[in-house]
Amino acid sequence: MNILIIGGGGREHSVARSISISKNCNKIYILPGNAGTAELGENIEGDVNDFNLIKKTVLSNQISVVFVGPEDPIVNGIYDFFKKEQLLKDILIVAPGKRAAKLEGSKDFAKVFMKKNNIPTAKHSTFSKETIQQAYSFLDQMKPPYVLKADGLAAGKGVLILNTLNEAKKELDNMLLKNKFGKASNRVVIEEFLDGIELSCFVLTNGKDYKVLPFAKDYKKIGEADTGLNTGGMGAVSPVPFLDEKLKIKIEEKIIKPTVQGIQDERMDYIGFIFIGLIKVKDEPYVIEYNVRMGDPETEVVFPRIKSDILDFLLALETDNFPLLDLDIDSRAAATVMLVSGGYPLAYEKHIPISGLRDINQSIVFHAGTKTQDNKILTNGGRVLAITSFGETINKATDTCYKEIQKISFKGMSFRKDIGFDL
Ligand code: AMP
Ligand code: GLY
Repeated sequence: MNILIIGGGGREHSVARSISISKNCNKIYILPGNAGTAELGENIEGDVNDFNLIKKTVLSNQISVVFVGPEDPIVNGIYDFFKKEQLLKDILIVAPGKRAAKLEGSKDFAKVFMKKNNIPTAKHSTFSKETIQQAYSFLDQMKPPYVLKADGLAAGKGVLILNTLNEAKKELDNMLLKNKFGKASNRVVIEEFLDGIELSCFVLTNGKDYKVLPFAKDYKKIGEADTGLNTGGMGAVSPVPFLDEKLKIKIEEKIIKPTVQGIQDERMDYIGFIFIGLIKVKDEPYVIEYNVRMGDPETEVVFPRIKSDILDFLLALETDNFPLLDLDIDSRAAATVMLVSGGYPLAYEKHIPISGLRDINQSIVFHAGTKTQDNKILTNGGRVLAITSFGETINKATDTCYKEIQKISFKGMSFRKDIGFDL
């Protein structure tokens, strides 16, 4: 069968690679894709939010399965669009419905959902311009550091952690009164600061049954030892060494099960992935956030560790067979290191030639911001390549990444040299 993957980053290259080795995969189309996905299938130029183009692509290429990578089209309702279109409604679209997507699209919605379903998370309150005085009083009663979150999608930049009350009030003004994050900060969630270590949990679900994928940990800061600006992600590892059986059971019982039950109780359409951002405080897990998709760069370590035929799992989602399938996971560790453009996450140059990719033989190269021009591979974004390796331990996996990275170069190339440092 033919598969369409929506998105063009390292996550989508990793998904394309896993699907390409499925026995049921005939041809893969990727919209818009990158230079890496072009080697696995056909890239279609266009915007991930152009639903009419997606419809045309599906119909003209006999697509049977659509896999949606990024949050934007999901939050914009791509699932509901398919279900309303006569010609698309029977096509399997791996993306939750618009109402479920509010778990990512609105922090307040997610907090209310967690509270209702008794899921451990930081205490919070939500405020708007009209209730800014109450927001100041709420901050007065809290201890530093102060956590402010724009309610809506803000490209991963909408969370601010402030050390002083003055800064917190100033940023609250910027968000509520000065549209710091546009419409996304019309409402602000203020919550208790949780002090602990973060990890990412991935669940594939049809809103009733679920499979827990390998856990991972990502590294969001640009600088070594987790310093400097936030990025889309500079690297990731899987599994997570500090996650023992006891904590895994707590996560499943206190978080995963009530989350899926809540989705079912509220009759949300859910065919796809839940990415639960967790933080371990002492020995207890808390939810930091929900995402309604896979993570990037976590997918570049999680999917390669799945030995089962991924397409079989996707095809089973809407059948009674789904609960009967067992995931086969590679016992080795995987690590990925992102190579980024000079200047990222601030301004950076694009269209710089990349050399050395053909010499990589011990790692998997996932393309993120790349494109092909005149048979050359050029940079085309901030995050350019994710280099993934396996190893008996995380250290061995990262060692291989760093050895292989020596062979790659492009002007301005930069990467974190300490992925996995804290484990
Ligand atoms: P989010 O966009 O909700 O994932 O938040 C971005 C980052 O902010 C998280 O990965 C955490 O590092 C941090 N963060 C968010 N909420 C809290 C919290 N309540 N306590 C401590 N850190 C937080
Ligand atoms: N790695 C974090 C994210 O995909 O949002």
